[in-house]
Amino acid sequence: MNCLKMLHAKIMKCQKCPLSQLRTKAVPGEGSIGAKIMFIGQAPGREEDKTGRPFVGRAGKFLDELFQANGISREEVFLTGSVKCFPPDNRVPKREELLACKPYLIEQIVLVNPRMVVFLGNVAQKFLLNEEILKGRIIFFTYHPAAGMRFPKIKEKMAEDFNRLVDIAQENRLLKSF
Ligand code: URA
Ligand code: SF4
Repeated sequence: MNCLKMLHAKIMKCQKCPLSQLRTKAVPGEGSIGAKIMFIGQAPGREEDKTGRPFVGRAGKFLDELFQANGISREEVFLTGSVKCFPPDNRVPKREELLACKPYLIEQIVLVNPRMVVFLGNVAQKFLLNEEILKGRIIFFTYHPAAGMRFPKIKEKMAEDFNRLVDIAQENRLLKSF
């Protein structure tokens, strides 16, 4: 088992915060260990909680559309969230939960070592932005796909953001298709 698999196995059994009591499955994240781009969202939703896989619900489908439109495949990037367990009623994760879960995210960044980190929404960025681990990486901000899916204006903005993202990826050779 590689280190990432071991870390994910540990997350699946984690009980460091109260979200562990309510989850069905923890959602560590998914993608290639060699991924050059890591996407960090908020928290698993209901579908993710059922399946243990990130971005498989409606917001995930919208993210897939953005990927497809821009020639990005899920397999070549890494997808995760700021907490790994479903917060009841899809509420925003609490500060204590974010802090309890943060070492896992940091460890994922260490192991995957992405050149670019994309924040989907502002939950992860708020508590990670000043971390040493982000130094030297390209940081990119956009909206969460759950917002893009619901609000046409944000959808438009996300489409523009993804165009920019792909330009940066192309310049830095971060995607296979380029
Ligand atoms: N974070 C999200 O925002 N969505 C997921 O599906 C998993 C993590
Ligand atoms: Fe552990 Fe994170 Fe799940 Fe809390 S949210 S139980 S810290 S894996």
